[in-house]
Amino acid sequence: MINIAVSSQKGGVGKTTVSINLAHAFARAGVRTLLVDADPQGSVGLSLTRQSRLLAGFYDFLKDPSTPLERLIVPTRLETFALVASGQASDYEAGGGIGAHLSRVRDFLHAVAGRGYDLCIMDTAAGLFGVTGDVVSSSDAIMILQQAEPLGIRSVPKLLEGLNRMRVMNPRLSILGVCLTMVQHDLIESTEAAAALRQLLPPEMVFQTQIPRNPLFVRASARGLPIGAMEEGAAVQAVFDRLRVEIEDKLQPGDARRV
Ligand SMILES: Nc1ncnc2c1ncn2[C@@H]1O[C@H](COP(=O)(O)OP(=O)(O)OP(=O)(O)O)[C@@H](O)[C@H]1O
Ligand SMILES: [Mg+2]
Repeated sequence: MINIAVSSQKGGVGKTTVSINLAHAFARAGVRTLLVDADPQGSVGLSLTRQSRLLAGFYDFLKDPSTPLERLIVPTRLETFALVASGQASDYEAGGGIGAHLSRVRDFLHAVAGRGYDLCIMDTAAGLFGVTGDVVSSSDAIMILQQAEPLGIRSVPKLLEGLNRMRVMNPRLSILGVCLTMVQHDLIESTEAAAALRQLLPPEMVFQTQIPRNPLFVRASARGLPIGAMEEGAAVQAVFDRLRVEIEDKLQPGDARRV
């Protein structure tokens, strides 16, 4: 199993949206995919299930690693797609230092790997604090999201600083790159910001695929669905299929076969 953490410097850039739709794209392509909500806010659960506040989840496992995985894994209509909600995270909202839960995050991934998943995508809280740091330290790969707007671009030095910290935290981490989100092709500031980011970072560090700003994302989350499960979502789903292929290409050839 390969696990990919979805991370960002700033909040609200589309991590949860990308995690859900990318996981769905992999699952539709036949990859047995588990989407894990490692954000104490519990947004994946809120977006995809009605009873998310009642579900046991990732944070329940961190609290009590003897919690059976069957209690945590929520199946979906798609046989290859399942999720783990964040669960009862109240003790963790404050964060805690990096490394506080490292061994339990690893135990969780180990337990999940034993269930035959090919891929585990982990949605995280913004920044690299607390459990997010532990998730990044335990991951095989990371993708970083950056919003295509002038403010986002100004945070690039911080982003690079963050990348360096990730490399120190986990030297075997494969940094898949930065993916631009909420790109607005009809807004010059947005396309300029996207271009500026491409100039600032080495080309292999920026995904070719960019996520457009589209009101369908808001509609999809209101309906509790990945965009590809909505009739009108085919065009946007194609974006996530391209992102999936890019990720498969970026992973080592041996890993790509496994995924
Ligand atoms: N490409 C997009 N186009 C339009 N709206 C979007 C897009 N991506 C996300 N959104 C909307 O923007 C809001 C924030 O997105 P999301 O929750 O995915 O961000 P996040 O990075 O996970 O936030 P947080 O840091 O709080 O976890 C949501 O209301 C979501 O529906
Ligand atoms: Mg989120």
